[in-house]
Amino acid sequence: MQNNTNNSNSIILAPSILSADFARLGEHTQEALTAGADWVHFDVMDNHYVPNLTIGPMVCRALRDYGITAPIDVHLMVEPVDELSGSFIDAGASLITFHPEASRHVHRTIEKITKSGCQVGIALNPATPLSYLEPIMEFIDLVLIMSVNPGFGGQAFIPRSLERISQVRAMINVMKPGVRLQVDGGVNAANIQSIVEAGADTIVAGSAVFGADDLTKAITTLKKNAQQGAGE
Ligand code: DX5
Ligand code: ZN
Repeated sequence: MQNNTNNSNSIILAPSILSADFARLGEHTQEALTAGADWVHFDVMDNHYVPNLTIGPMVCRALRDYGITAPIDVHLMVEPVDELSGSFIDAGASLITFHPEASRHVHRTIEKITKSGCQVGIALNPATPLSYLEPIMEFIDLVLIMSVNPGFGGQAFIPRSLERISQVRAMINVMKPGVRLQVDGGVNAANIQSIVEAGADTIVAGSAVFGADDLTKAITTLKKNAQQGAGE
């Protein structure tokens, strides 16, 4: 596939701690960072917006208190968004990504997050029109293309996502170069290169990192294959 990246951002690998060992979360998260991971992807599910229940701001604070200094990339799969986003900012989040269907006033939610000094991302489900981005691109730091339906780790990558990644890359390049393009769901060593070639620069991987027998080897391979996709 043609390399469509055409962006100045370097590749970021953000392992999703949804697949980590929760009984030793601090240690397992640090292992991934020591092995070369760049960000910590923190999946928040509320059994309302998505059919699963995970972790909240107290766990984010606990990771900070444990000594995690890397950016914590909070992916909010919750409805409503505003109150919890404030709690995560207080708990040490670096970036908060939310689903626009889960907020009645998307622009207001973006403003609320950025005013507090936190970065903000918008997550688009596989069936959410990309046109959602048009009125808000100028106010955001990241677009997250979901390549599975949100709610669970370990699902298969939806192939149609590649086309959506290319389309969003083109929109970013025209509207606000520098906005990160993140992909989340079903990423593995075999498909990460084509995901980057399609235009992604920020990659989430849960089971492909924390489910691997050798975490360091898994991260090294994912980064190497991603960099090949970026022509680095
Ligand atoms: C799914 C979550 C993902 C999930 C990815 O709703 O947002 O971050 O942890 O897991 P894998 O990489 O296993 O698909
Ligand atoms: Zn996620």
